[in-house]
Amino acid sequence: MMNHKHCKLIKKSGRSLLLANLALAVSSAAWADCSYTITNNWGSGYTGEIKVTNNTNQTVNGWSVSWRDSGTITSSWNASLSGSNPYTATSVDWNRTLAPNASATFGFQGTGSASVAAVSGSLCGAAASSSSKSSVAPSSAAQSSAAPSSKAASSVAASALILQEGQNGFCSVNGTIDSDNSGYTGSGFANTENAQGTAVSWAVSAANSSRYTLTFRYANGGTSPRNGSLLINGGSNGNYTVELPSTGSWTNWQTASIEVDLVQGNNSVKLTAVGAEGLSNIDSLQISGGPTAPGSCSGTTSSAPKSSASSSTTTSAASSSSVPTSQCNTVMGYATRSGRTGGAVSVTGGGNATPIVVKTFADLVKYATDSSPRVIHIDGTVGSGWSGTNGDRLSIGSNKTIVGLRPGTQLRAPIHIKNASNVIVRNLVIKGPGSNSDQAWDNLNIEGTSKNIWIDHNEFWDGQDGNADVVKGADNVTFTWNIFGYTTNGGHNFSNLVASSDNEPVSEGKLNITFMFNHFKGVAQRAPRCRYGNIHVVNNLFTTGGLPSQMAISAGVQCKAVVENNHFIGISEPVHQRSGGAAEVRGSNIFENTSGDKTSYGGSAFVPPYQYTSVLVDGSRVKGMVEAGAGATLKDAAACK
Ligand code: GCU
Ligand code: CA
Ligand code: CA
Repeated sequence: MMNHKHCKLIKKSGRSLLLANLALAVSSAAWADCSYTITNNWGSGYTGEIKVTNNTNQTVNGWSVSWRDSGTITSSWNASLSGSNPYTATSVDWNRTLAPNASATFGFQGTGSASVAAVSGSLCGAAASSSSKSSVAPSSAAQSSAAPSSKAASSVAASALILQEGQNGFCSVNGTIDSDNSGYTGSGFANTENAQGTAVSWAVSAANSSRYTLTFRYANGGTSPRNGSLLINGGSNGNYTVELPSTGSWTNWQTASIEVDLVQGNNSVKLTAVGAEGLSNIDSLQISGGPTAPGSCSGTTSSAPKSSASSSTTTSAASSSSVPTSQCNTVMGYATRSGRTGGAVSVTGGGNATPIVVKTFADLVKYATDSSPRVIHIDGTVGSGWSGTNGDRLSIGSNKTIVGLRPGTQLRAPIHIKNASNVIVRNLVIKGPGSNSDQAWDNLNIEGTSKNIWIDHNEFWDGQDGNADVVKGADNVTFTWNIFGYTTNGGHNFSNLVASSDNEPVSEGKLNITFMFNHFKGVAQRAPRCRYGNIHVVNNLFTTGGLPSQMAISAGVQCKAVVENNHFIGISEPVHQRSGGAAEVRGSNIFENTSGDKTSYGGSAFVPPYQYTSVLVDGSRVKGMVEAGAGATLKDAAACK
């Protein structure tokens, strides 16, 4: 392994107006190649994932990692588990071979309290800790009893994107791609000519206007610094200086990190030598902090955070967010329309109402059900838990925005949106009572004359009936960046129902729904299962979570489905055929280890009546983006309007 221990301070030299208030971030050597993520946490237990990335330039055959967990691990999947605090996980046959830059992810479930742990292992590199991710011990410390490094109660680690020379997202170097100094990753490194003004350029596509950490891996065998000036989108989204001092030798690679704002859509990132000796050699650029993908080198760049996401034919409060540092994405899709073919509608929720912070379920109910527009921020866990049709259930009326203030904010009550319009729900974790066999309440039920509803960045786990059902004539709903998951097979892992029976004629022409950037995880059926509606299922990730899968998307009686650029992994019948319905399977869907139906049937479906191609990504990018961004992950949800 190379030495990644050192990191260098980076100073910002200039600021655009937009960035005037942003603090400088000092590097944190985020070269962690084994990341521990708490994927769900219900207090008495949790599930987690460890992602192991081969960040060397050699293919590895077999890997193992160790960590000391704050709880007791009761089961695991996709790796072979041994030991007991420390635990050791070893690769299984099908994930033992990792090419350079490839990763393997395995999962586990534990009892007790969850805490992000430090992971060590031969592929874990040497890196410092950061607050929301694991810290990683050097490989020599493998098997040692590394202590948990972070007190984060719940965190979802964003997986990092690494751009290497010769791959998408690496655009150009004024010089050469070399491989004569060892210790590089990928296929080499960028060596600029030794002259002022020579540069290396990349392109990064960001799902949201948000703060990201850029980490440059570099070597400088000269004696003086070879600093770069860093321009984001030609300078319109940031102008910094990246210090790249001597590392003592051309084979000693170190990292330098800086926090920058990227804007939603394509971004150009250009590092230009400020001195006559050119830049230090640059091995790679890592981008972390949120969902990103390699961008287009020839693509146009966005110059303002509000420009690219929402439909050009719609308006919304979200699209005029004045908080470029947040992860706020904007509402798109059918929520922004009137019916199936009508015009644009603003989805503003509580709009500009002064936010009310609630700490109790009683207060939440009071404001969520009254007749005024409300922006309600939930501070801490609320609700008493629930089972059957007893216990707390939250009804939400019209013109409401309900937001969890922190990542992983738990609402221990299912949500009911009946005959309400213009509602936004974000950043909440809602979990069923553990038994999803008795088919009582859905985690989220939208019904009646409800319309223009946006459900964004939430987690719906183990719905006692469904996770998020839209029924009885509700209309114009968009689901973005949610996790719909089951952690146990209760026999009714049926996640998303659109119309609950063939006898819902009230639903004809209604039930127009968009699902984009969601993660369906461990769902046996109904991901989603539709009657009567038009459903646009685009850029979603489908995985089994180790549980049996029966079928994902299914369009029956008078339902039309557009199935576009999704990634299905291990799913039986990704597109299950039913008589009376139609599914149009198009674009770059990826079917990985799937079986059964996956083709179009029933004729052409429909043309989505809204603009979405500016945020559409290729199917190959969905897994990375959705794993990094889906769920109640918003750090700054209060700023999202
Ligand atoms: C050496 C080294 C190159 C480096 C160059 C320089 O030739 O091998 O990788 O770029 O010095 O001074 O820039
Ligand atoms: Ca050089
Ligand atoms: Ca490289």
